[in-house]
Amino acid sequence: MPKKVIIFDTTLRDGEQSPGASLTVQEKLIIAKQLARLNVDIIEAGFPISSDGDFEAVKLIAQKVEGPVICGLARAMKEDIKRAWDAVKYSKKPRIHTFIATSQIHMEKKLRKSKEEIIEMVIEAVRYAKSLCDDVEFTPEDASRTDIDYMCDVMRAAIKSGATTINIPDTVGYAQPGEFGNRIRAVFEKVKEAKNVIISIHCHDDLGLAVANSLTALKQGALQIECTVNGIGERAGNCSLEEVIMNIKTRRNFFKDFYTEIDTKEIYPTSQLVSNLTGLMVQRNKAIVGQNAFAHEAGIHQHGILSAKETYEIMNPEDIGWRGTNLVIGKHSGKHAVEAILKESGYELEDEQVEKIITKVKNLADKQKNVERDDIIAIAASVAGALSKEDVIVELDEVKIITGNKTKPKATVSVIIEGDKKIGKGEGVGPVDAVSHAIKNIVGGEIELKEYNLKAITGGTDALADVTIAIEDKKGNIFRAQGINEDVIIASAIALVKGLNKALIFKKKIHGE
Ligand code: KIV
Ligand code: ZN
Repeated sequence: MPKKVIIFDTTLRDGEQSPGASLTVQEKLIIAKQLARLNVDIIEAGFPISSDGDFEAVKLIAQKVEGPVICGLARAMKEDIKRAWDAVKYSKKPRIHTFIATSQIHMEKKLRKSKEEIIEMVIEAVRYAKSLCDDVEFTPEDASRTDIDYMCDVMRAAIKSGATTINIPDTVGYAQPGEFGNRIRAVFEKVKEAKNVIISIHCHDDLGLAVANSLTALKQGALQIECTVNGIGERAGNCSLEEVIMNIKTRRNFFKDFYTEIDTKEIYPTSQLVSNLTGLMVQRNKAIVGQNAFAHEAGIHQHGILSAKETYEIMNPEDIGWRGTNLVIGKHSGKHAVEAILKESGYELEDEQVEKIITKVKNLADKQKNVERDDIIAIAASVAGALSKEDVIVELDEVKIITGNKTKPKATVSVIIEGDKKIGKGEGVGPVDAVSHAIKNIVGGEIELKEYNLKAITGGTDALADVTIAIEDKKGNIFRAQGINEDVIIASAIALVKGLNKALIFKKKIHGE
């Protein structure tokens, strides 16, 4: 009888820890709803003690997203656990996930605690979590570098105290598949209670082995895989959800003992949604969801594909929900066509936001003959990611540019800050650079442009420009923002001002400045 693999999605927690991938509460909710459509079993929605924003996001997701278990992360401390519970308790299926490091290096250098003290903390934390919530997951952080016998002692203590899932992470992405598989097998040999709980794995991709390690662990008895959409996450990222799922589905003979309940047709829309909202682009040649994943360039391959798809294609693009064609919306296409595209792309939005998108699409169609699906999705991402009124400290007013092949580009940007018009001037190597300097000058050099990505959404010189930027504040915090416009310079200014707002709101909330 094949066993169900539990898919634990941590895009909104570990994935969101990717440098610069900060999402607003509303964006997190949109992604969580799409994860429910993808049919993941568990959504780790955030780390509630880490910030008020994270707490609000986990709470909102617990209130509004039905289907998956909603989980909140907590260090093995009462205060963290209580905060996680206060956020997840609104879900019909809440889970508290508590963790503490158990490797020698972490215990000694980070926690400065003895092995015995750590075990005491595990017992206390899991017992407390259990007193609040039936479903408790425990993680010995840096497990793959933890002495195996000690790790087993910690596991026994956690299970005895009420943990129902034990997660074994490769926190620093150091393990090799055979080695990691042996660790999981050893767990079942050494800890007799392990068969009464779910053994989970959580692998990072520092050496590019997160998926291989996760699939190997499955064969050794682990039944829950923690992963993220597009493999986003700290440093090199986490185990990629889509790769795990499509391995299990495509290699039926190899994984005949396992199945997942993921609706694979939602994989591509979910990948696009996460990429658009986080601003983290999917590399072209990324397995499963990259733009080239189903493109056949070489003549010999094309010939094979035309004769019989199976010659070079091991998966059907349709199975992951890849639509290929870029449906065109004309001036006269109705509201329903736009709504249908939003729906199939995972944008479940408020009526007011949908109206905004429709107006923008119509305006664009008036200027541009045809608007393609990708244009609509980019507009949707910018509307979904729009800051709420109270989060707009700086409003873009006007952008003026002087540039040419014999003129040093100069920009004048005016913004409105609390009702006052402020003007900044800047020069640069190009007009975008000049705009960036002008905006920086308005706020007295508080921010630095760190990353700039420009994507022409559809081909042609009349394409919508989609600009994603990352700015850094003086304390090294990174803020990412997106801007869409028919004009590259205006799209850049929109993105920069939005990033600036995010930095200012953060400063206000954290430092009360
Ligand atoms: O990588 C890790 O160890 C983690 C734990 C907190 C689960 O993210
Ligand atoms: Zn992790």
